[in-house]
Amino acid sequence: MSEKLISSTEMNRAGAGEAPVVDAGAAAVPAPAWLPAWDGARYAANTGHHRVYDQLYLDTLPLRAADVVLDLGCGSGDFTAIVAALVPDGEVVGVDPQPTLLDEARRRAAPNQRFVQGAVQQLGALFPVAGSFDVVMTRAVLQWVPLADHPGVLADAFRLLRPGGWYRAEFGGAGNIPVILRLLDDVAARLGGPQCPWTFADVGPYLELVEQAGFDLDGGFLRLTPQRRHFDRETLMGWFHSQAVQAYTTTMDAGDGAAFVRGAESRFDELARWDGTFDQTFVRMDLLARRPA
Ligand SMILES: C[S@@+](CC[C@H](N)C(=O)[O-])C[C@H]1O[C@@H](n2cnc3c(N)ncnc32)[C@H](O)[C@@H]1O
Repeated sequence: MSEKLISSTEMNRAGAGEAPVVDAGAAAVPAPAWLPAWDGARYAANTGHHRVYDQLYLDTLPLRAADVVLDLGCGSGDFTAIVAALVPDGEVVGVDPQPTLLDEARRRAAPNQRFVQGAVQQLGALFPVAGSFDVVMTRAVLQWVPLADHPGVLADAFRLLRPGGWYRAEFGGAGNIPVILRLLDDVAARLGGPQCPWTFADVGPYLELVEQAGFDLDGGFLRLTPQRRHFDRETLMGWFHSQAVQAYTTTMDAGDGAAFVRGAESRFDELARWDGTFDQTFVRMDLLARRPA
C-alpha cells in the first residue's frame, strides 16, 4: 500500500526540484525490551477520552493538503487516520514500537498512510534522512518517555523537519491525573513498586529543552492545559487496564504485578467523585514549535 505512495510523493517533490521528503529507508526496529507492552485491541477500545479532544488539537495543527507528517507513537491509529484525511495529497507515517497497536492502525489506514515499528528513542536509526517531514506530531505518548530521553527526541524531531516545519506535541504534564495517580502510587508502594512511572514535565524546564533543540516558539506556544476527562467506573477501569497498568507492572515481578492489579481494582470505588462520576483531571503539555526557516 504505502511503498507506491511514498515513491509517488518522493517523485512529486523531487520533480519540483526539491530534495525527496520521505525517508524511504525507514526500517522496523524491534521494540526495546524495557518498554511497557500494550494490547492493541484493548487500547483501541479505550481511546474515547482522547478522541473527545481531537478537534482542540487539530485546531492548532498546521497542516496543508500535501504535507508529509510523522506521527510519533501512533498507537491504534484512529487519530492518525483523521490526520491522514487532512493531507489528501500528502502522507502520514505512523511510528510505534508495539506490533499489536500497529496491526490495529494498519486496519484503519487510508492509502496515504504507512507505518514503521520502533520507539522514539530510535528515530535516528528509523529515519536517517534529515528534513523528511513538514510536520512532526505526537499525542499522549511522551509521558511514557523518560525525561532524560526528551532532548534526543526533540533533536530528532528538529532534524526530521524541513526548515520552517512544525512540531506539535501533546502529552501528560505536571499535575496530570492527580487523584488516580495517588491511589496507584499507594498500591504500588506497598509492593515496593514504582512511584509515578510516567514523565509529567513542567513547562519551565521543558521550554529550555525545546529551545536547546533549536526550536522557535514564534507563532507557536508551550503551555499546560487542564482538561476534565469524563469516565464512569467501567470506562476508568478500561483506561486502567489498557493504558496505565503496564506503566507500573513492567518493573515488577509477575506476582507483585498481579497483586498490584488486584489491589488497585479493589480500591477503585475510592475514585467515585461527589458528583457520582469517576472523572479525572488530565493536564496536558501542549507544544507547537517551529524549526526556523
Ligand atoms: C496513550 S497511547 C497514544 C496513542 C495515540 N497517539 C493516540 O492518540 O491514541 C500511547 C502510545 O505511546 C506509545 N509509546 C510508548 N512508549 C513509546 C516510545 N518510547 N516510543 C514510541 N511510542 C511509544 C505506545 O506504544 C502507545 O501507542
